[in-house]
Parts: sequence; C-alpha cells; structure tokens
Amino acid sequence: MAEHFIIVGGGQSAAQAAVTLRQKKFDGRITIVGEEPHLPYQRPPLSKRYLAKKLEPERLSIRPGRFYAEADVDLKLGVRAVELDLDNKRVRLGDESELVYDGLLLATGSRVRELDVPGHDLDGIYYLRTRDDADAISAHLGPGKRLVIVGGGYIGLEVASVAVSLGAEVVVLEATQRVMSRVVCPEVSAYYDRRHRDAGVELHYGASVAAFHGHDSVDAVEIDSGESYPCDLVVAGIGISPRVELAAKGGLAVDNGIVVDDFALTEIESVFAAGDCTSHPSAHAGRHIRLESVQNAVEQARTAASVFLGQRLPYAEVPWFWSDQYDIKLQIAGLSGDHDSVVMRGDPDSGRFAACYLRGGLLSAVDAINSPRDFIGGKKLIEARSRVDASRLANPSVNLAELV
Ligand code: NAI
Repeated sequence: MAEHFIIVGGGQSAAQAAVTLRQKKFDGRITIVGEEPHLPYQRPPLSKRYLAKKLEPERLSIRPGRFYAEADVDLKLGVRAVELDLDNKRVRLGDESELVYDGLLLATGSRVRELDVPGHDLDGIYYLRTRDDADAISAHLGPGKRLVIVGGGYIGLEVASVAVSLGAEVVVLEATQRVMSRVVCPEVSAYYDRRHRDAGVELHYGASVAAFHGHDSVDAVEIDSGESYPCDLVVAGIGISPRVELAAKGGLAVDNGIVVDDFALTEIESVFAAGDCTSHPSAHAGRHIRLESVQNAVEQARTAASVFLGQRLPYAEVPWFWSDQYDIKLQIAGLSGDHDSVVMRGDPDSGRFAACYLRGGLLSAVDAINSPRDFIGGKKLIEARSRVDASRLANPSVNLAELV
C-alpha cells in the first residue's frame, strides 16, 4: 500500500513539506490537517501590506487551491488533530476520525501570548496572528481612530506604521526601555523610536498594562503608573509561545518547543517537527534554540521531507529575519543574543546603516537597515566564520562579503 505522510498544521511549514515531498517524487498519500479554514497562507503580510489593504486575500495563499488538487494533497481544513498515538502511528482528529501515518510532521506553530489583566475580555482588544485577526483589525482602522498598541516588538511597530498611514492616532506602550529590545541593539532601537515619532506615533516605555476600561468595548488602557490612554481599539503584540500540547500529550520531548535534531526529527523515527513549535540544535548559537521565522519554517520543513525520503541533509542555515516599517526595510542575519560588542556601519541619519554584532572576534549577526548589500555580505561572513577586523567592519565603503 502507498505510504502516507501526515502534516499536522496548516501554515508555512505544512505547505512547504507537501511541496518538497512532491518535488522529490514522493508518490504516496499526503494529508494536511489544519485547524484554520483557509488554504495555507503567508503570515508576514498580515501586519504589513495585507493590513494596509494593499494585498488581495488570494495573494496571501502560499500555493493556489489548484496546486493541492494537482499534487494530490488531501487538505483537511477547519479540523484539529487532538491526539497522537505514536505506538500505533495514528492521529485522531477533532471530528473523531483517525488517520494512520508512515511519516508525520508536526507543524503546529505558535499562539499569541495574551494579557490577563482586568478588562482583558472587553470587545475591541485584538491580537494579530491569523488572517481572521488581520481582517478584524483592518475593519476598525481608519482616519481619526485612536489605537493603543501594547508591545513595541515586530507586530506592534509594523501595525503602528500601517495604522498611521491610514490616518489613525497611535500610542505604543512598551514594557521595556526601548523598542524591539528582544532582537536589536540600543542604536537600532533609537533609530526606530525616532522614525515612529517623526510619523506621529506616541511611544511610552516601562509601560505595563494594569487594566482595560470600558463598558462592552474597550475605551481606555491604564498602565501601572496610573496613567490612562483613551482608545477606540487595542492591538497587543507581546510575543508568542510554541504550540506543543499535542506533542507533549503524545509523549514527545518538549523543552521550549518540540525537541528535534539537525534533521528535524524527534526522538521517534519518522516523526518530524518544523517551524515555530520546535527547539533545534544551532551551530550558530552553540545550543538548542527556537526560532520564530518564515525561513526556519521553510528550511526545517524541507529538511523533514528530504530526510523522510532518505536524503539526510542537515538543516544548518544562518537564521534570517526582516521587518517593513514605513520606507524602512530591516534585514537581520544571524543571532545577536550573546554578542560581546557592536560595531556600527554608516550613519543612521542617512537612513542606511548596519549594526554588526561580534562574539569572540567572529561576526554573529548583522542588522541591515535599508542596506541589502550589508545583509547579504554579513550573512556570508557569518556563514564563513572568518575572524573580522572591527575597523574594516566599521567602514561602510568596505563590502562585508570581501572580508570573508
Ligand atoms: P516580539 O517578541 O517581537 O515583541 C513583543 C514586545 O512586547 C517586546 O518588545 C516586549 O518587551 C513587549 N511586551 C511583552 N509583554 C508586554 C506587556 N505586558 N506590556 C507591554 N509590552 C510588553 O513579539 P510580537 O511583536 O508579538 O511578534 C510575535 C511574533 O510574530 C514573533 O515571533 C515575530 O517574530 C513574528 N513576527 C515577525 C515579523 C517579522 O519578522 N517582520 C513581523 C511580525 C511578527
């Protein structure tokens, strides 16, 4: 009988695994089980062009509907996988049906962290993770609308830039002392702070939400210091957590994500996991890490599909990320967490510059702001693990790729 590969999750990893299996001539059955009713779609535009109504809903789909029909991929949408029986290679679905697999990929992604303060269940408080979330927020944005954003990370700042361009009045409340503090250095945060203020956004730091006020719908956000910000709606972007319950209940190891190896394999043969929900060994970080990025979702899914088909190619790419705010394109290569110094390249006032993070004399990450050349060169330099001379790094006329 033909082999059956089941993919649990209907996002970027899921679509990629199906595509790779067929590209590599897998001729067995493929089933995607996704709880959202939509075809697998791209999430990055949800806080950017899609929210700004500059992208048609069909354009969000990773592949059009006909791809799944032509590639003979069975889409079970609007249904959840609720239980794994790894001993008998079975997945039970919410509609009480059961599927038997030969290969299994868990691509369950992540869910938003939510605020649990008084008033948290009022109408008008949104989180942004799904297409339906983006539709709901977008329906309420417009000229004169007062929007309070909780969290000055990727979601908060991308939503701020779209909302301002649509004529809304925007206040950002960030718990730490600077924006995007999880991922960039203070110099880059300062640049973004300035650009948002120039666009008319009000930013407050050290601001933790104490309560939401309103009757049915939220009309003000109160922070710990007692200050209150009137609003018509709230969007909170305070981070995400991996969706691991299905794996954990099934008996798989979970430690800040479903634990996998370089081959996207869990400790059980033919059971893989990919994307936001995984914790994997990283040669770049020198430890297990969990990445929240499209690149990771795509690469791990490719790896899982290839390994299932007997091609044992480890996943070892340098991580990369991007963010679009106003006319600023931020491209990040590598992981900056454990750096011991930062070298700036170029002048932030010029609108094009980069921050280079060093660890033990090696480049560990680069944040390139409107500077694709520094992103590409920096990524090569990180891959090559060559020792770098800080003074040459600081000279923007030196191409980073030449330092390899
Ligand atoms: P994030 O981790 O980037 O930012 C969360 C921000 O909220 C942090 O600055 C944090 O200090 C702040 N925060 C946490 N608790 C708070 C509180 N109680 N009050 C006020 N501030 C608080 O997470 P974000 O923005 O929610 O994004 C979620 C995920 O979506 C991430 O995985 C991100 O990678 C992904 N994403 C990526 C994008 C990109 O790569 N361009 C764009 C949008 C989202």
